[in-house]
Amino acid sequence: MKLIHLIEQLPKSELHLHIEGTLEPELMWALAEKHKVSLPYESVEAIKEAYQFDSLQSFLDLYYQGADVLRDEDDFYQLMRQYLQHCKADNIVHTEIMFDPQTHTARGVGFDIFMPGFQRAIEEARREWGISVYLIMSFLRHLSEPEAIETLNQARAYYPLITAVGLDSSEKGNPPEKFIKVFAAARALGFKCVAHAGEEGPADYIWQALDLLKIDRLDHGVRASDDQALMARLRDENMALTVCPQSNIKLCVFDNMQHHNILQLLEDGLCVTVNSDDPSYFGGYLNDNYRALMTHLGMDESALVQLVKNSFMGSFLPAEEKNKWL
Ligand code: ADE
Ligand code: ZN
Repeated sequence: MKLIHLIEQLPKSELHLHIEGTLEPELMWALAEKHKVSLPYESVEAIKEAYQFDSLQSFLDLYYQGADVLRDEDDFYQLMRQYLQHCKADNIVHTEIMFDPQTHTARGVGFDIFMPGFQRAIEEARREWGISVYLIMSFLRHLSEPEAIETLNQARAYYPLITAVGLDSSEKGNPPEKFIKVFAAARALGFKCVAHAGEEGPADYIWQALDLLKIDRLDHGVRASDDQALMARLRDENMALTVCPQSNIKLCVFDNMQHHNILQLLEDGLCVTVNSDDPSYFGGYLNDNYRALMTHLGMDESALVQLVKNSFMGSFLPAEEKNKWL
């Protein structure tokens, strides 16, 4: 089978996806009209044209602004439903989705609004398409640790729906060590732990995420290649890395796809996975990311198969579920 068809037809898992980053310009526009929110754009086309970034922060500014149109339960249902439709189209059978509660609670939109909306869409996707979904509650690292702890407490009624906690937003200047207590508390409650580290920030932040936050999986982590001792540690622990190729190009982590290190990390023996991060902002869902690796990095069939296997091995599925896909 041709590689392009194999990309489409292999059942896959996605492990690094921010639900707020799936807000398509068309839905943003429609929700702004519905809620009479004024957007700094004149048209859907103008929203699309604004998506030119030179850093993580330049993207986050638009991402938080865009999320302001999400106001009621049905908005969160529609957002989740649209992403899960993309999962069906891309043959994603399992997905572990991050959401940023503080982006919403700061605007007076609480857990009782967004969680039921998410839940309704997730149950439908499970019933209609057999897709399995885990949720990862991410803390915003530009805010304080006490605010993250408050968020963990606010989520209490929804703990049964949440598999893991994460750490995202502006990396530089907000090291993992800022969040030791909240991650310890989350771990004690039985949550798995993930954190963005080594996206724009240095390899030292990856050490901190491993040693201080005791993460079970590393989001991005591409800067690990700066530090050979760290590479050995990640290999020895079989730590999964959720790499997001098109995101890294859009946010100038690498200057072009030909210079991306994902296949080198794979060759170096790391458990690398492919993910879309914020597909609406970065111009591609999961299969687009795999296709980019084929087109620009010469990914062959054996690399593709290993990346897809890793997407299940690095998941939080129980062993018997994982094994069904390996
Ligand atoms: N929030 C959404 N996407 C993100 C990314 N790529 N890095 C950090 N925080 C994020
Ligand atoms: Zn991310």
